[in-house]
Amino acid sequence: MSLPQAQSIFTMPVLAEVGQLDFERSARILRARAGIVIGSHKQEMAARTLGLRTKSMGLNNVREYLDHLEHNPNSTEWEAFVNAFTINHTAFFREQHHFDVLADFSKDRKKPLSVWCAAASTGEEPYSIAMILRESCLQPDIGVSIYATDIDTRAIERAKEGVYSQDRVQPVPHAYLKKYFQRGTGRRSGMVRVKSSLREMIEFDTFNLLSKSWPTDRKFDAIFCRNTMIYFDKPTQTGILERFAPMLKPGGLLFAGHSENFTYLTKAFRLQGQTVYTPT
Ligand SMILES: C[S@@+](CC[C@H](N)C(=O)[O-])C[C@H]1O[C@@H](n2cnc3c(N)ncnc32)[C@H](O)[C@@H]1O
Repeated sequence: MSLPQAQSIFTMPVLAEVGQLDFERSARILRARAGIVIGSHKQEMAARTLGLRTKSMGLNNVREYLDHLEHNPNSTEWEAFVNAFTINHTAFFREQHHFDVLADFSKDRKKPLSVWCAAASTGEEPYSIAMILRESCLQPDIGVSIYATDIDTRAIERAKEGVYSQDRVQPVPHAYLKKYFQRGTGRRSGMVRVKSSLREMIEFDTFNLLSKSWPTDRKFDAIFCRNTMIYFDKPTQTGILERFAPMLKPGGLLFAGHSENFTYLTKAFRLQGQTVYTPT
């Protein structure tokens, strides 16, 4: 008998052992570490993931795996655990209206401009920002810098590489595609890569928005933190917003995702446009 792919012969026995208490414990651990809240509808996916991680560590059951995480806050396994639960859905020029606002915001700049893309996923968002800034700054030598971070180490590695399938770059205007991407050849035929001139505008790093130590010595003209707060509870969202506010220069902009509403969470920001906020 062939088994459905999602329940391979390797995961099934461990899957059966992941009970309600283990699920709730793993959800608590994940929320404390990364802020991500997972609902009970994700229980099956979580069981599969925990089963695989347990097996890859050579442990006997999920309880031992969770014990390992809780007793070893510096274990390298934390990275794999968190990476396994992030949702990296993103796209080039996602929510186009934000890029129109950014183009308008940057077009008359005479001073250096810096943007933090705080949940950059696999890079489509910071590269979209980079293209817009390149195209809209009337004085290209003003100095544009983009800081792109994400908690997910695998996603940030892919972002740094800047290699995408043809499907992924479909939302990129044809003229930008020609100007900022090169076609892959050989092993990479059918793929495109962001040209180094654009990649070099961006500093990629891993950063957990729940971290205690923030890069508070940096100041930004704009922060993009889109479609990420939605996974956090309200107190976590408020805490992050209050840390973002002093990192924005006066008149700076915070871009939020289409279903994120920060209006009632804090007085540190006021709404400036469609899901665009400015510090009060
Ligand atoms: C749905 S994606 C959104 C990507 C992009 N901002 C966009 O709107 O297209 C959410 C991203 O948030 C990241 N993330 C989740 N928790 C995080 C945390 N605590 N710190 C930093 N990034 C986090 C995930 O790894 C994921 O790449």
